[in-house]
Amino acid sequence: MVDSDLLKQNVGKQASELIQDGQVVGLGTGSTTHHFIRYLGERVKNEELDILGIPTSFQSLILARESGIKITTLDEYDINIAVDGADEVNPSLDLIKGGGAAHTLEKLVDSSADEFVVIVDDSKMVDSLGKFPVPLEIIPDSLRLVKNAVIEMGGVPELRMGIQKDGPVITDNGNFVLDTKFDDIENPYELEIELNTIPGVLENGIFAGITDKVIVGRENGNEIIEK
Ligand code: A5P
Repeated sequence: MVDSDLLKQNVGKQASELIQDGQVVGLGTGSTTHHFIRYLGERVKNEELDILGIPTSFQSLILARESGIKITTLDEYDINIAVDGADEVNPSLDLIKGGGAAHTLEKLVDSSADEFVVIVDDSKMVDSLGKFPVPLEIIPDSLRLVKNAVIEMGGVPELRMGIQKDGPVITDNGNFVLDTKFDDIENPYELEIELNTIPGVLENGIFAGITDKVIVGRENGNEIIEK
């Protein structure tokens, strides 16, 4: 039985070794990026690296601070390299993200970086995107209308509910998440653009065409896939 957390640790460690002294680093969100941030914090301490991190969520902000990584913002710096997890990766390296409801800020950070590196265990590699629902961050007032619009497009929407919190998940930006299932997404580029044209949708979790490199954790070692 494969220990998926061990695979996540392995890719997190390898990604942390890509970071060079003096860089501004986009810090993704999720259980895989958690390991990356921890390993990067160790390098900062052991090698006295002078780097700055730009977090993509409260989760990565808190973890980066605990790990001793100095924090800055997109207002002040451009990003040299961003490292983030994903929920699905297709052979063209298009992604579905947002399982942690952080995809709006993740897309801003990841797409603006000079280099965007994705770290995943091999369970995330798929032939075609769509087994995982596409998360839409929507403003609360738009719930009914966005639901109707995505049903019209062939999607099956479900409002994401909180755990240890009554009612819906509220994102770091104060919004709802509408997880929308589309079977077999043939053209991720088109769907990504189309979903963002629905009034009330702030951002969706399809990240098409922005990945430079994927580090895939496999039982027999990491595989690097470059664009
Ligand atoms: C956060 O909203 C997501 O985009 C995560 O990056 C994604 O869900 C991958 O998370 P795990 O590394 O926990 O699988």
